[in-house]
Amino acid sequence: MKKIAVLPGDGIGPEVMAEAVKVLDAAQKKYGFELAYTWADVGGAGIDNQGKALPEPTVTTCEESDAILFGSVGGPKWEHLPPDEQPERGALLPLRKHFKLHCNLRPAKVFKTLVDACPLRPDIAKDGFDILCVRELTGGIYFGQPKGRHGEGGEETAFDTLVYSRFEIERIARNAFDAAMKRGKKVTSVDKANVLTSMVLWREVVTEVAKEYPEVTLDHIYVDNATMQLVKDPHQFDVLLCGNMFGDIISDECAMLTGSMGLLASASLNAEGFGLYEPAGGSAPDIAGQGVANPIAQILSATMMLRYSLNLGEAADAIEAAIAGVLEAGTHTADIAREASTVVGTAAMGDAIVAELEKM
Ligand code: NAD
Ligand code: IPM
Ligand code: MN
Repeated sequence: MKKIAVLPGDGIGPEVMAEAVKVLDAAQKKYGFELAYTWADVGGAGIDNQGKALPEPTVTTCEESDAILFGSVGGPKWEHLPPDEQPERGALLPLRKHFKLHCNLRPAKVFKTLVDACPLRPDIAKDGFDILCVRELTGGIYFGQPKGRHGEGGEETAFDTLVYSRFEIERIARNAFDAAMKRGKKVTSVDKANVLTSMVLWREVVTEVAKEYPEVTLDHIYVDNATMQLVKDPHQFDVLLCGNMFGDIISDECAMLTGSMGLLASASLNAEGFGLYEPAGGSAPDIAGQGVANPIAQILSATMMLRYSLNLGEAADAIEAAIAGVLEAGTHTADIAREASTVVGTAAMGDAIVAELEKM
């Protein structure tokens, strides 16, 4: 029996989480494994129900679990609070730091039958692409000290610090090269070494780590060029290695190139292999409460959990195949719908994936 901390969070978080749990329940029956869920408040739900974004009992639940399945946090309701008390800075970033989840994997792979949901020209999208964003998640400008504000009432300034240590760069670079060895053996490191001193070190260290992986080709690219090249020809990329902020930005672009923000899953792992699994997208306040959000990113995050934390690769493969089957049949949520689609809501998409899984 494996213990899973389930943290649905805010906005569409609880809507898509219900579908991920529905699919996990079906997978347990079919593949004979058992998960014990403990549901816990996080983000705005933590603030509303327990007075803070990351209540202590939630942290304890996570510590006592084998993995964390996370929805998304944040929204307009909590934006008036001091920044450090808001869901993002008060819960998600502290959770990543607490569990030392330095390695964020965001696989952006186009489903064969969704190539025409890619917003690129058909001659560029071709038969789709398969990119893995490897994002450093516990360092860089998100966490660098000092950060703060000065001079209130006068000439105000505010500042953040972009700092990376050799150790942090080496560690995430090895994660990227290890991943590349299992894929297309190509790493493209995204930086801004032409302007930022921290990125000069980034480029040097990544180049050194590359020597440990003679089979892997390494390219360096400036982040501005990278965003452009992704639109010009995403096929040129295999593994994209990024620092925290560039990885945040680039992964949203990759998500949309696969057809929707609602398709991109992620795994946030520490050096011991403990993981938090969450969609790359957010709480989507613009569609929350309507039952139309795409649950696939959340369900794929659950399959990453089965694969990386629970060693249940067979069940993960089956869920992915079930998703592909449903998409192939033309059953689509609104975000990926085209003319010939049967458009369904969040719960019906979950039901369709369960039905497909049961047929297999
Ligand atoms: P967002 O990712 O929530 O939404 C961006 C766009 O993508 C919206 O149009 C939204 O409708 C769409 N979208 C996202 N997920 C979707 C899904 N599953 N199905 C269909 N469409 C989907 O980004 P935002 O609007 O910039 O942020 C909203 C809130 O979420 C903010 O408070 C932000 O800080 C937070 N956020 C949280 C996380 C997280 O918890 N991991 C990640 C990103 C943003
Ligand atoms: C993500 C999100 C978070 C980030 C926010 C909500 C703190 O955008 O996971 O991509 O910037 O890392
Ligand atoms: Mn983001």
